[in-house]
Amino acid sequence: MNLLVTGGAGFAGSNFIRYILRKYPNYRIFNLDKLTYAGNLDNLKDIEGNANYKFIKGDIVDQRMVFKICRNNKIDAILNYAAETHVDRSILDPADFVKTDVIGTYNILEAVKEFKLQKFVQISTDEVYGSLTKGQFTEESPFLPNSPYSASKAGADLLCRSYVKTYKLPVVVTHSCNFYGPYQYPEKMIPLFVTNLMEGKKVPLYGKGENTREWIYVLDHCRAIDFLLHKGVNGEVYNIGTGVEKKNIQITQIFLAELGLDKKMIEFVKDRPGHDWRYAVNSNKLKKLGWSPEYDFDDAMRETIRWYQKNEWWWKKLKSGEYLKYYKKQYGL
Ligand code: NAD
Ligand code: TYD
Repeated sequence: MNLLVTGGAGFAGSNFIRYILRKYPNYRIFNLDKLTYAGNLDNLKDIEGNANYKFIKGDIVDQRMVFKICRNNKIDAILNYAAETHVDRSILDPADFVKTDVIGTYNILEAVKEFKLQKFVQISTDEVYGSLTKGQFTEESPFLPNSPYSASKAGADLLCRSYVKTYKLPVVVTHSCNFYGPYQYPEKMIPLFVTNLMEGKKVPLYGKGENTREWIYVLDHCRAIDFLLHKGVNGEVYNIGTGVEKKNIQITQIFLAELGLDKKMIEFVKDRPGHDWRYAVNSNKLKKLGWSPEYDFDDAMRETIRWYQKNEWWWKKLKSGEYLKYYKKQYGL
């Protein structure tokens, strides 16, 4: 199979490419990535010489580019990981979220139609459903996004739905809970907190740290996307989850305990505007089809902390320059 992975130089996309190249030695992967601040070829250093892998620098907002890659490489399927993904950035500056997440997905749908591809998997988020106090989101829950990020993802997912209904395209849309694991850009809570603590810095916990997220290890997410690429029913939407819910303060306490640090390292800061209280998905539909998570939360989180400890070379250079400017603006420093 010839796969086009968009956004493959980011956190989840790079883990997926590595996973697929190991599992299917005959598959060829084309990675189209714009290399925004979040795209990093260091994430793929170990596979850059793989004969079945090719990196192409480019933008999914450029339809000609997406078409050219599909035409020249006999692409069979597209997995769309490319997106602007950080909620706090979307609050400061939504423009690129609308361009990449909505118009980029539109261009991919047009390519799926034009080249009659076998499958398109849209990698999306449970954040499109909004925020919960109790219960779980099902695939039938209404879209009630609260941030420009989740609204842009929701717009893209609705375009996918319309292309299924109107043009009968072979699209599968996924709504996953939060991922954690190696190679996550250190602006998201987990790598930011682990690396701050390693540097002797405090961790900025929003509000009272009571907001709750459901967590999946990135390799379990890769397994789910691989499963849906091959077995997902065209036109269907699937939630991806584990049932593991944690308050942000609980995650922070795990880090403090693992690193032998005191709760004085927590700095409660101003809350995120429109901060979603809780996400939790019902993923019975995917489980009935035959997928379930394999990784234990405590083990995989410990493994993740170890990875950031062992790979300072990877994150130290990211925590400077542009990143610092952003944080200065965010916290008025
Ligand atoms: P990331 O921010 O680490 O990576 C995004 C990648 O997309 C980067 O490599 C970036 O360079 C690339 N990109 C951005 N704009 C592009 C454009 N216009 N053209 C081509 N490439 C572009 O993101 P991630 O955390 O790996 O998330 C991947 C996908 O998974 C996203 O679609 C996100 O919405 C979804 N998702 C993420 C999570 C999570 O917890 N991280 C949870 C659910 C869903
Ligand atoms: P994040 O990693 O940005 O993912 P998302 O908002 O997409 O779920 O944040 C996870 C949770 O951690 C969320 O409730 C916001 C909170 N958070 C903090 O408390 N401090 C931080 O510095 C960040 C980045 C997030």
